[in-house]
Amino acid sequence: MCGIVGYVGKSDATPALLTGLARLEYRGYDSAGISVLANEKISTLKRAGKLSVLVDALREHPLPQGRVGIGHTRWATHGSPVDRNAHPHMDPDDQIAIIHNGIIENYQLLKSELERAGHYFISDTDSEVVAHLLGIEYKASGDLTTSMQRVCQRLHGNFSLVAIATSSPDVLVGARRNSPLVVGLGHGENFLASDVAAFISFTKRALEIGQNQVVTLTSQSHLITDFAGVVQSAREFEVTWDAGAAEKNGFPHFMAKEIMEQPKSLADCLLGRLDEREHLMLNEIRLSDDEIRDIEKVIIIGCGSAFHAGMIAKYGIEHWSRLPVEVELASEFRYRDPIITRSTLVIAISQSGETMDTLMALRHARDQRAKVISICNTHGASIPRESDGVIYTQAGPEIAVASTKAFLTQIVAAYLVGLYIAQVRGLKFIDEVRDILDELGELPEKIERYLETSERLKELALEFKSAQSILFLGRHVGFPVALEGALKLKELAYMHAEGFAAGELKHGPIALIEEGTPVLVIMPSPNSPLHDKMVSNVQEIEARGARAIIIAAESDSSITSLRAIRIPDSSVLFQPILAVLPLQLFAYESALVRGYDVDQPRNLAKSVTVE
Ligand code: AGP
Repeated sequence: MCGIVGYVGKSDATPALLTGLARLEYRGYDSAGISVLANEKISTLKRAGKLSVLVDALREHPLPQGRVGIGHTRWATHGSPVDRNAHPHMDPDDQIAIIHNGIIENYQLLKSELERAGHYFISDTDSEVVAHLLGIEYKASGDLTTSMQRVCQRLHGNFSLVAIATSSPDVLVGARRNSPLVVGLGHGENFLASDVAAFISFTKRALEIGQNQVVTLTSQSHLITDFAGVVQSAREFEVTWDAGAAEKNGFPHFMAKEIMEQPKSLADCLLGRLDEREHLMLNEIRLSDDEIRDIEKVIIIGCGSAFHAGMIAKYGIEHWSRLPVEVELASEFRYRDPIITRSTLVIAISQSGETMDTLMALRHARDQRAKVISICNTHGASIPRESDGVIYTQAGPEIAVASTKAFLTQIVAAYLVGLYIAQVRGLKFIDEVRDILDELGELPEKIERYLETSERLKELALEFKSAQSILFLGRHVGFPVALEGALKLKELAYMHAEGFAAGELKHGPIALIEEGTPVLVIMPSPNSPLHDKMVSNVQEIEARGARAIIIAAESDSSITSLRAIRIPDSSVLFQPILAVLPLQLFAYESALVRGYDVDQPRNLAKSVTVE
């Protein structure tokens, strides 16, 4: 996810662009850049690092004053965060500058086509390919709007694009598909941005841009068409948020926003994972088929939620690849003198890519000659840089300390690794892999459906507000979900909480149960062999006075309690992705009712860079 902003109007563009980027920095902050058009020439300055690095550079190398410009703050998806990969990107003749947010799924095909035609690329990004295509169309038509329409018809994947052209001094053109882009309507000036936060200090009048549409702005006008050039109407609206709230897109907290972003994050995590033959493709793990065939053992390392994601992934990877999978707390891993050989694959899971416990464990694994891949949400971070290969979760920046969308996409990314290993080792036919990918592809809609209908978690948080301790029970893939639910409650509501494997209750923990003890139960899906055992576990704890709140599949008719929390049906291995949602919301609401800081809980940091 990146932040993009465009300005066309009566003033110098640079201040408006920098103000907008500062408001959008939460969307991505590994590099930033702006381009301004003045005297029929586009001047660009871009720098790796936070926006402040660009601001400092502009003090030394100010751009000429111009009334139209574009700016970008990046969350890398393709190409590490270095100056040349920062946006804006230019066409070969420096006639066009573009900025892009999203993932162009067919960029490699388009890039090869252009390279065969003699094009040379400066960056590793998918976005630069769009700049070249726009340059070709602009040279042919001389019209930026027509050029954008034609280029968009060739792009697959998600994108919001904004472009300027040297011989169109008062024009800003944008386009979108599945990626956010909104118009700000000012007095004698207009804006384009990823969200209203970018221009809310200039104007509160905004215009929605629909799917597959192109918008052309001048300082006095706006025109919206579809990709075929047919004029479209647009809904104007008044932004009611203040600037601070706008960074959260109107949500009260980043965590609330990130919980609701999970359908899109999961869809983005699955984007670009198929080759032209529609086979699962994970080029970035950079392991040859022979190296994958030589793997004899997998060890997953991580901390906190990343560790819980690894525990869930173990079930899928073992089931599909038939390789033994160990899951180890990164902080414990190297001290237990693990058995590692050249045939061991270590998977390091980390949202930030900077967790020192995980980084040190990864270094130990490499010293022991293991192959190491990382699953990470932050391009160019230390952990992916020190891995043989990486799977980026593509979830977009996660600002809240409590991990939600990153956790969900870590599970999916690890499942993709398991499927890929099975595909390479011939344990799964291509169509079997596709069937599983198709079911994964149905999850965003199921998550959306649950989140839209979820209620009562606030009521539950109020009911258990003064509880001394809350237990979480799960079995099989539900056991790590119980651990994650307990972690969320601990880190957000500062309540004592503990997750158990339900089968373990009778070996001691059941002594904890007394009248009114709250217990959240992740009920295995009805087609799980453990479903009926969990029903018995619930009877055991209720017989001792527990207040059991059951999270169960919609089709689970064995659960009759009206207090059950229903989640959409799914297969056994995918249920954790849905079962964790009410637990995230319960922890969030519990923090609110207890008056705590949801996004920055006490004693915690988003990335723990000390051992
Ligand atoms: C999760 O809610 C926590 N914020 C924490 O456990 C986190 O998952 C852990 O610190 C690992 O962080 P990483 O994914 O950035 O490595």
